[in-house]
Amino acid sequence: MTARVLHNTPAEIARAVAALRGGELVAIPTETVYGLAGLALDPAALAQIFAAKDRPTFDPLIAHVAPSPRGRRLEALAEAQLVDGARLTPLARQTAQRLVDALWPGPLTLVLPRARAVPDLCTAGLDSVAVRMPAHPMAQQILKQLGQPLAAPSANRFGRISPTTAAHVLAELGERIAWIVDGGPCAVGVESTVVAVQPDGRCALLRPGGVTADVIAAVSQHPVMITEISPLALPSPGLLASHYAPTQPLRLLPASVQDLGEKARAALQPGDVVLVVTGAGEATRALGCKPVLLSPDGSDVTAAQRLFACLREMDTATGTLYAEPVTRTDGLWPAIADRLTRASAPRT
Ligand code: TXA
Ligand code: MG
Repeated sequence: MTARVLHNTPAEIARAVAALRGGELVAIPTETVYGLAGLALDPAALAQIFAAKDRPTFDPLIAHVAPSPRGRRLEALAEAQLVDGARLTPLARQTAQRLVDALWPGPLTLVLPRARAVPDLCTAGLDSVAVRMPAHPMAQQILKQLGQPLAAPSANRFGRISPTTAAHVLAELGERIAWIVDGGPCAVGVESTVVAVQPDGRCALLRPGGVTADVIAAVSQHPVMITEISPLALPSPGLLASHYAPTQPLRLLPASVQDLGEKARAALQPGDVVLVVTGAGEATRALGCKPVLLSPDGSDVTAAQRLFACLREMDTATGTLYAEPVTRTDGLWPAIADRLTRASAPRT
Protein backbone atom coordinates (compact mmCIF):
# COMPACT_ATOMS: atom_id res chain seq x y z
CA MET A 1 0.00 0.00 0.00
CA THR A 2 1.30 3.48 -0.82
CA ALA A 3 -0.58 6.38 0.70
CA ARG A 4 -2.40 8.80 -1.55
CA VAL A 5 -1.96 12.45 -0.57
CA LEU A 6 -5.17 14.50 -0.47
CA HIS A 7 -5.32 18.29 -0.64
CA ASN A 8 -7.62 21.08 0.49
CA THR A 9 -10.39 20.77 -2.10
CA PRO A 10 -14.01 19.91 -1.29
CA ALA A 11 -13.76 16.67 -3.31
CA GLU A 12 -10.59 15.50 -1.59
CA ILE A 13 -11.85 16.40 1.90
CA ALA A 14 -15.03 14.44 1.08
CA ARG A 15 -12.80 11.51 0.02
CA ALA A 16 -11.03 11.59 3.39
CA VAL A 17 -14.36 11.73 5.25
CA ALA A 18 -15.74 8.79 3.24
CA ALA A 19 -12.64 6.72 3.98
CA LEU A 20 -12.93 7.45 7.71
CA ARG A 21 -16.65 6.68 7.70
CA GLY A 22 -15.83 3.37 6.01
CA GLY A 23 -13.52 2.46 8.89
CA GLU A 24 -10.23 3.30 7.16
CA LEU A 25 -7.36 5.31 8.64
CA VAL A 26 -6.48 8.79 7.36
CA ALA A 27 -3.51 10.89 8.49
CA ILE A 28 -4.78 14.41 9.12
CA PRO A 29 -3.09 17.74 9.84
CA THR A 30 -3.64 19.40 13.20
CA GLU A 31 -2.07 22.60 14.54
CA THR A 32 0.26 20.54 16.77
CA VAL A 33 1.45 17.52 14.77
CA TYR A 34 -0.12 15.25 12.14
CA GLY A 35 -2.46 12.63 13.60
CA LEU A 36 -3.27 9.12 12.41
CA ALA A 37 -7.06 9.27 12.56
CA GLY A 38 -9.72 6.58 12.82
CA LEU A 39 -13.24 6.43 14.26
CA ALA A 40 -12.88 6.82 18.04
CA LEU A 41 -15.92 4.68 18.84
CA ASP A 42 -15.05 1.84 16.42
CA PRO A 43 -12.82 -0.85 17.97
CA ALA A 44 -11.82 -2.17 14.53
CA ALA A 45 -10.55 1.25 13.41
CA LEU A 46 -8.73 1.67 16.73
CA ALA A 47 -7.06 -1.72 16.31
CA GLN A 48 -5.78 -0.59 12.89
CA ILE A 49 -4.27 2.54 14.45
CA PHE A 50 -2.30 0.49 16.98
CA ALA A 51 -1.17 -1.93 14.26
CA ALA A 52 -0.07 0.78 11.78
CA LYS A 53 2.00 2.53 14.47
CA ASP A 54 3.32 -0.64 16.20
CA ARG A 55 1.90 1.04 19.28
CA PRO A 56 1.44 -1.01 22.46
CA THR A 57 -2.21 -1.12 23.51
CA PHE A 58 -1.41 0.14 27.02
CA ASP A 59 -0.92 3.62 25.49
CA PRO A 60 -4.34 5.34 25.27
CA LEU A 61 -5.43 7.62 22.42
CA ILE A 62 -6.82 11.17 22.30
CA ALA A 63 -10.34 11.60 20.89
CA HIS A 64 -10.68 14.67 18.65
CA VAL A 65 -13.98 16.51 18.41
CA ALA A 66 -15.50 19.02 15.97
CA PRO A 67 -15.69 22.69 16.90
CA SER A 68 -18.76 23.75 18.85
CA PRO A 69 -19.71 27.17 20.22
CA ARG A 70 -18.38 28.45 23.56
CA GLY A 71 -20.62 27.34 26.41
CA ARG A 72 -21.68 24.23 24.46
CA ARG A 73 -18.31 22.55 24.32
CA LEU A 74 -18.50 20.50 27.50
CA GLU A 75 -22.06 19.33 26.76
CA ALA A 76 -20.99 18.35 23.25
CA LEU A 77 -18.51 15.88 24.75
CA ALA A 78 -21.32 14.07 26.55
CA GLU A 79 -23.53 14.18 23.46
CA ALA A 80 -20.69 12.67 21.42
CA GLN A 81 -20.75 9.77 23.92
CA LEU A 82 -17.19 10.44 25.03
CA VAL A 83 -17.46 11.93 28.52
CA ASP A 84 -19.64 10.93 31.47
CA GLY A 85 -20.65 14.38 32.68
CA ALA A 86 -22.46 12.90 35.69
CA ARG A 87 -19.12 11.83 37.14
CA LEU A 88 -17.64 15.36 37.10
CA THR A 89 -17.70 17.06 40.50
CA PRO A 90 -18.99 20.65 40.45
CA LEU A 91 -15.42 21.94 40.86
CA ALA A 92 -14.07 19.71 38.07
CA ARG A 93 -16.92 20.78 35.82
CA GLN A 94 -16.18 24.45 36.51
CA THR A 95 -12.50 24.00 35.63
CA ALA A 96 -13.24 21.97 32.50
CA GLN A 97 -15.79 24.58 31.43
CA ARG A 98 -13.30 27.42 31.88
CA LEU A 99 -10.58 25.58 29.96
CA VAL A 100 -12.71 24.53 27.01
CA ASP A 101 -14.31 27.97 26.72
CA ALA A 102 -10.97 29.80 26.75
CA LEU A 103 -8.57 27.37 25.08
CA TRP A 104 -10.54 25.26 22.60
CA PRO A 105 -10.09 24.88 19.74
CA GLY A 106 -6.38 24.58 20.47
CA PRO A 107 -3.45 22.47 21.70
CA LEU A 108 -4.97 21.37 25.02
CA THR A 109 -6.11 17.82 25.84
CA LEU A 110 -8.36 17.20 28.83
CA VAL A 111 -8.52 13.85 30.63
CA LEU A 112 -12.09 13.46 31.91
CA PRO A 113 -14.40 10.66 33.16
CA ARG A 114 -15.09 8.32 30.30
CA ALA A 115 -18.53 7.48 28.92
CA ARG A 116 -19.44 3.82 28.52
CA ALA A 117 -19.54 3.97 24.70
CA VAL A 118 -15.79 4.64 24.45
CA PRO A 119 -13.99 1.39 23.54
CA ASP A 120 -11.34 0.08 25.95
CA LEU A 121 -8.76 0.28 23.16
CA CYS A 122 -9.16 4.07 23.05
CA THR A 123 -8.60 4.50 26.79
CA ALA A 124 -6.29 1.53 27.41
CA GLY A 125 -8.93 0.31 29.84
CA LEU A 126 -8.64 3.44 32.00
CA ASP A 127 -11.74 4.98 33.54
CA SER A 128 -10.91 8.30 31.84
CA VAL A 129 -10.77 9.53 28.26
CA ALA A 130 -8.50 12.16 26.69
CA VAL A 131 -10.28 14.70 24.47
CA ARG A 132 -9.29 17.69 22.40
CA MET A 133 -10.75 20.06 19.81
CA PRO A 134 -8.08 20.77 17.16
CA ALA A 135 -7.71 24.27 15.67
CA HIS A 136 -6.48 23.28 12.19
CA PRO A 137 -9.21 24.25 9.69
CA MET A 138 -8.88 21.02 7.66
CA ALA A 139 -9.11 18.85 10.78
CA GLN A 140 -12.20 20.84 11.77
CA GLN A 141 -13.82 20.41 8.35
CA ILE A 142 -13.23 16.67 8.41
CA LEU A 143 -14.62 16.31 11.95
CA LYS A 144 -17.67 18.44 11.13
CA GLN A 145 -18.53 16.53 7.97
CA LEU A 146 -17.92 13.20 9.66
CA GLY A 147 -20.12 14.06 12.66
CA GLN A 148 -18.30 11.74 15.04
CA PRO A 149 -15.08 11.88 17.06
CA LEU A 150 -11.73 10.69 15.72
CA ALA A 151 -9.00 9.01 17.71
CA ALA A 152 -5.68 10.36 16.47
CA PRO A 153 -2.26 9.68 17.92
CA SER A 154 0.71 11.37 16.29
CA ALA A 155 1.21 9.82 12.83
CA ASN A 156 4.61 8.25 13.47
CA ARG A 157 5.76 4.75 14.26
CA PHE A 158 5.78 4.20 18.03
CA GLY A 159 8.61 5.96 19.87
CA ARG A 160 9.78 7.86 16.80
CA ILE A 161 9.84 11.54 15.85
CA SER A 162 6.38 13.11 15.49
CA PRO A 163 5.47 14.38 12.00
CA THR A 164 4.87 18.07 11.32
CA THR A 165 4.48 17.86 7.52
CA ALA A 166 2.65 15.48 5.16
CA ALA A 167 6.07 14.43 3.81
CA HIS A 168 7.09 13.30 7.32
CA VAL A 169 3.94 11.15 7.53
CA LEU A 170 4.67 9.67 4.12
CA ALA A 171 8.17 8.74 5.30
CA GLU A 172 6.85 7.21 8.55
CA LEU A 173 3.69 5.44 7.46
CA GLY A 174 3.43 5.82 3.67
CA GLU A 175 3.58 2.05 3.14
CA ARG A 176 1.12 1.28 5.93
CA ILE A 177 -1.85 3.59 5.33
CA ALA A 178 -3.93 4.57 2.31
CA TRP A 179 -4.61 8.29 2.86
CA ILE A 180 -2.72 11.39 4.02
CA VAL A 181 -4.37 14.82 4.08
CA ASP A 182 -1.80 17.56 3.40
CA GLY A 183 -2.54 20.67 5.45
CA GLY A 184 0.91 22.23 5.26
CA PRO A 185 3.45 22.49 8.09
CA CYS A 186 1.99 22.43 11.62
CA ALA A 187 1.79 25.88 13.24
CA VAL A 188 2.55 24.78 16.83
CA GLY A 189 4.93 21.88 16.17
CA VAL A 190 4.78 20.11 19.56
CA GLU A 191 1.87 18.01 20.81
CA SER A 192 -1.00 19.27 22.91
CA THR A 193 -0.62 19.80 26.63
CA VAL A 194 -2.35 16.91 28.45
CA VAL A 195 -4.01 17.69 31.79
CA ALA A 196 -6.20 15.54 34.03
CA VAL A 197 -8.95 17.56 35.67
CA GLN A 198 -9.09 16.55 39.35
CA PRO A 199 -12.24 16.31 41.52
CA ASP A 200 -11.02 19.37 43.49
CA GLY A 201 -10.87 21.46 40.31
CA ARG A 202 -7.09 21.50 39.95
CA CYS A 203 -5.33 20.21 36.84
CA ALA A 204 -2.53 17.65 36.93
CA LEU A 205 -0.08 18.26 34.09
CA LEU A 206 0.51 14.91 32.37
CA ARG A 207 2.41 16.17 29.31
CA PRO A 208 3.78 19.67 28.66
CA GLY A 209 2.76 20.94 25.23
CA GLY A 210 1.36 23.76 23.16
CA VAL A 211 -0.45 25.51 26.04
CA THR A 212 1.77 26.57 28.94
CA ALA A 213 1.14 25.59 32.57
CA ASP A 214 0.88 29.30 33.45
CA VAL A 215 -2.00 29.76 31.02
CA ILE A 216 -3.77 26.70 32.42
CA ALA A 217 -3.34 28.03 35.97
CA ALA A 218 -4.66 31.46 34.98
CA VAL A 219 -7.66 30.11 33.07
CA SER A 220 -8.61 27.38 35.58
CA GLN A 221 -8.00 29.75 38.51
CA HIS A 222 -6.18 26.93 40.35
CA PRO A 223 -2.49 26.11 40.71
CA VAL A 224 -1.37 23.35 38.30
CA MET A 225 -0.09 20.11 39.84
CA ILE A 226 3.20 19.36 38.16
CA THR A 227 3.93 15.81 39.22
CA GLU A 228 7.23 14.01 38.82
CA ILE A 229 5.80 10.77 37.53
CA SER A 230 7.69 7.51 37.44
CA PRO A 231 7.55 5.91 33.97
CA LEU A 232 6.78 2.67 35.82
CA ALA A 233 3.52 4.07 37.17
CA LEU A 234 2.45 5.07 33.66
CA PRO A 235 -0.43 7.44 34.44
CA SER A 236 0.12 8.81 30.94
CA PRO A 237 2.15 6.49 28.76
CA GLY A 238 3.36 9.34 26.52
CA LEU A 239 5.68 9.89 29.45
CA LEU A 240 7.69 6.76 28.57
CA ALA A 241 11.36 7.66 28.86
CA SER A 242 12.45 7.02 25.25
CA HIS A 243 10.11 8.73 22.81
CA TYR A 244 10.30 11.14 19.86
CA ALA A 245 13.63 9.48 19.09
CA PRO A 246 15.79 9.60 15.96
CA THR A 247 17.05 6.22 14.70
CA GLN A 248 20.61 7.25 15.57
CA PRO A 249 21.42 7.89 19.24
CA LEU A 250 21.14 11.53 20.30
CA ARG A 251 23.23 12.81 23.21
CA LEU A 252 22.21 15.74 25.35
CA LEU A 253 25.14 18.09 26.09
CA PRO A 254 25.51 19.36 29.68
CA ALA A 255 25.65 22.99 28.45
CA SER A 256 25.51 24.96 25.20
CA VAL A 257 28.60 24.53 23.00
CA GLN A 258 29.47 28.15 23.85
CA ASP A 259 29.43 27.38 27.58
CA LEU A 260 30.97 23.89 27.54
CA GLY A 261 34.19 23.45 29.49
CA GLU A 262 37.45 22.75 27.63
CA LYS A 263 37.26 19.00 28.27
CA ALA A 264 33.64 18.55 27.23
CA ARG A 265 34.24 20.63 24.14
CA ALA A 266 37.22 18.45 23.17
CA ALA A 267 34.87 15.42 23.10
CA LEU A 268 33.08 16.89 20.07
CA GLN A 269 34.64 15.62 16.85
CA PRO A 270 34.71 17.46 13.53
CA GLY A 271 31.72 16.23 11.53
CA ASP A 272 29.50 15.76 14.59
CA VAL A 273 26.06 17.34 14.38
CA VAL A 274 24.77 19.66 17.11
CA LEU A 275 21.24 20.93 17.63
CA VAL A 276 21.91 24.54 18.59
CA VAL A 277 18.98 25.84 20.65
CA THR A 278 19.35 29.58 19.94
CA GLY A 279 21.80 31.68 17.96
CA ALA A 280 23.72 31.15 14.74
CA GLY A 281 25.95 28.27 15.83
CA GLU A 282 29.36 29.97 15.44
CA ALA A 283 30.91 28.14 18.41
CA THR A 284 29.79 24.83 16.91
CA ARG A 285 31.07 25.70 13.44
CA ALA A 286 34.41 26.76 14.94
CA LEU A 287 34.87 23.16 16.16
CA GLY A 288 34.26 21.78 12.67
CA CYS A 289 30.86 20.44 13.75
CA LYS A 290 27.62 20.98 11.82
CA PRO A 291 25.09 23.17 13.65
CA VAL A 292 21.37 22.55 13.12
CA LEU A 293 19.67 25.77 14.23
CA LEU A 294 16.55 25.17 16.30
CA SER A 295 15.51 28.79 16.86
CA PRO A 296 17.57 31.24 14.82
CA ASP A 297 15.39 34.12 16.12
CA GLY A 298 15.61 32.89 19.74
CA SER A 299 11.85 32.44 20.23
CA ASP A 300 10.15 29.43 21.81
CA VAL A 301 7.47 29.49 19.12
CA THR A 302 10.04 29.07 16.34
CA ALA A 303 11.84 26.37 18.34
CA ALA A 304 8.62 24.37 18.77
CA GLN A 305 7.69 24.72 15.10
CA ARG A 306 11.11 23.54 13.94
CA LEU A 307 11.90 20.90 16.60
CA PHE A 308 10.76 17.66 14.96
CA ALA A 309 11.91 18.69 11.44
CA CYS A 310 15.36 19.50 12.90
CA LEU A 311 15.54 16.07 14.59
CA ARG A 312 14.61 14.42 11.30
CA GLU A 313 17.26 16.43 9.46
CA MET A 314 19.87 15.41 12.03
CA ASP A 315 18.90 11.77 11.62
CA THR A 316 20.08 11.82 7.97
CA ALA A 317 23.61 12.92 9.01
CA THR A 318 26.63 10.67 9.48
CA GLY A 319 28.36 12.26 12.52
CA THR A 320 27.45 11.67 16.16
CA LEU A 321 24.30 13.58 17.12
CA TYR A 322 24.24 16.04 20.03
CA ALA A 323 21.68 18.50 21.34
CA GLU A 324 22.27 21.52 23.51
CA PRO A 325 20.10 21.57 26.65
CA VAL A 326 17.13 23.92 26.95
CA THR A 327 17.68 26.12 30.00
CA ARG A 328 14.72 28.48 29.83
CA THR A 329 11.54 27.50 31.64
CA ASP A 330 9.05 30.03 30.27
CA GLY A 331 6.58 29.68 27.39
CA LEU A 332 6.92 26.55 25.24
CA TRP A 333 10.48 25.81 26.42
CA PRO A 334 9.41 23.13 28.97
CA ALA A 335 7.58 21.22 26.20
CA ILE A 336 10.66 21.45 23.98
CA ALA A 337 12.97 20.38 26.83
CA ASP A 338 10.68 17.40 27.54
CA ARG A 339 10.82 16.20 23.90
CA LEU A 340 14.62 16.61 23.74
CA THR A 341 15.13 14.72 27.01
CA ARG A 342 13.02 11.83 25.74
CA ALA A 343 14.59 11.90 22.27
CA SER A 344 17.99 11.46 23.96
CA ALA A 345 16.90 8.99 26.66
CA PRO A 346 18.56 5.56 26.81
CA ARG A 347 16.59 2.98 24.83
CA THR A 348 15.45 -0.16 26.53
O1 TXA B 1 -1.25 17.22 19.81
C1 TXA B 1 -1.65 16.07 20.04
O2 TXA B 1 -2.17 15.77 21.13
C2 TXA B 1 -1.52 15.05 18.92
C3 TXA B 1 -2.41 15.46 17.75
C4 TXA B 1 -2.42 14.45 16.64
O3 TXA B 1 -3.68 15.76 18.22
N1 TXA B 1 -1.82 13.73 19.39
C5 TXA B 1 -1.00 13.05 20.22
O4 TXA B 1 -1.42 11.78 20.50
O5 TXA B 1 0.03 13.52 20.67
P1 TXA B 1 -0.48 10.68 21.15
O6 TXA B 1 -1.25 9.42 21.07
O7 TXA B 1 0.84 10.69 20.49
O8 TXA B 1 -0.38 11.09 22.65
C6 TXA B 1 -1.50 10.89 23.50
C7 TXA B 1 -1.12 11.17 24.92
C8 TXA B 1 -0.32 10.01 25.43
O9 TXA B 1 0.75 10.51 26.18
C9 TXA B 1 -1.30 9.30 26.33
O10 TXA B 1 -0.67 8.64 27.33
C10 TXA B 1 -2.15 10.45 26.85
O11 TXA B 1 -2.28 11.30 25.74
N2 TXA B 1 -3.46 9.95 27.25
C11 TXA B 1 -4.46 9.54 26.46
N3 TXA B 1 -5.51 9.11 27.19
C12 TXA B 1 -5.18 9.28 28.48
C13 TXA B 1 -5.84 9.03 29.72
N4 TXA B 1 -7.08 8.51 29.77
N5 TXA B 1 -5.19 9.31 30.86
C14 TXA B 1 -3.95 9.83 30.83
N6 TXA B 1 -3.27 10.10 29.68
C15 TXA B 1 -3.87 9.82 28.54
MG1 MG C 1 2.99 10.58 19.94
